Amino acid sequence: MNFQYDLFNEGFKTKNAEKHDRLRSKQNDYLDSHHHPQEKLKQLNKVDNYIYGEILELFAGQGNLSEYYKQKGNLYQCTKETTGDSFQHLFELINNKKHFDVIDIDSYGYPSQFMDNVWHVMKPTSTLIITFPVMGVQCINGIVEQHFINFWKSARPSTGDVVGAVTDYGLKYWYLSKLIDLVKIKPIWRFVFQCKRIKATEFCSTKNR
Ligand SMILES: C[S@@+](CC[C@H](N)C(=O)[O-])C[C@H]1O[C@@H](n2cnc3c(N)ncnc32)[C@H](O)[C@@H]1O
Repeated sequence: MNFQYDLFNEGFKTKNAEKHDRLRSKQNDYLDSHHHPQEKLKQLNKVDNYIYGEILELFAGQGNLSEYYKQKGNLYQCTKETTGDSFQHLFELINNKKHFDVIDIDSYGYPSQFMDNVWHVMKPTSTLIITFPVMGVQCINGIVEQHFINFWKSARPSTGDVVGAVTDYGLKYWYLSKLIDLVKIKPIWRFVFQCKRIKATEFCSTKNR
């Protein structure tokens, strides 16, 4: 393994850790080459029919997608600077009984921690858009592997595993998720789902007495 001495942390960094640092630094500079706004907008235009009404944009950052969303509906924009940590803010929205037609989770990392709760802010039919880093882009160690197994049922989740896991998360809350579109934009996947709430009685072909 190749190491470089890290003066700040007084330790050695692996090549992978150095690669990760370079990525973070470019993300911090908010370079288009690391946010891919044109490609994301191209996909949104493709699924235009599914973008309307009350729109929740988590991790909106410097707003590359916000102008598009503002034209399509009533945008509730969440940035670190305005609404704080998007994960924490979701709980506030749940508490305030907010419901959205469209939810975009464009985090740098995996959207794992949203998957149990995002259903609570959906309308009966909602569009869910998630960013999912392509395998290999982020350093994988034992902890990350276990994280994948816990949330996505595989040590190296494929796009099929992600669709399966989203379907399973949704079913807990009686939402049936259908994959509408999937694109690979360099180091990320962008998944677009339509999630429809189905009556439990209908789902189970059972009558309540
Ligand atoms: C992948 S970028 C999304 C960019 C945006 N959708 C765009 O296309 O311009 C993620 C953004 O979320 C911000 N961010 C990072 N951690 C956050 C957090 N915990 N809560 C809210 N925003 C966060 C980052 O600073 C960055 O601006």
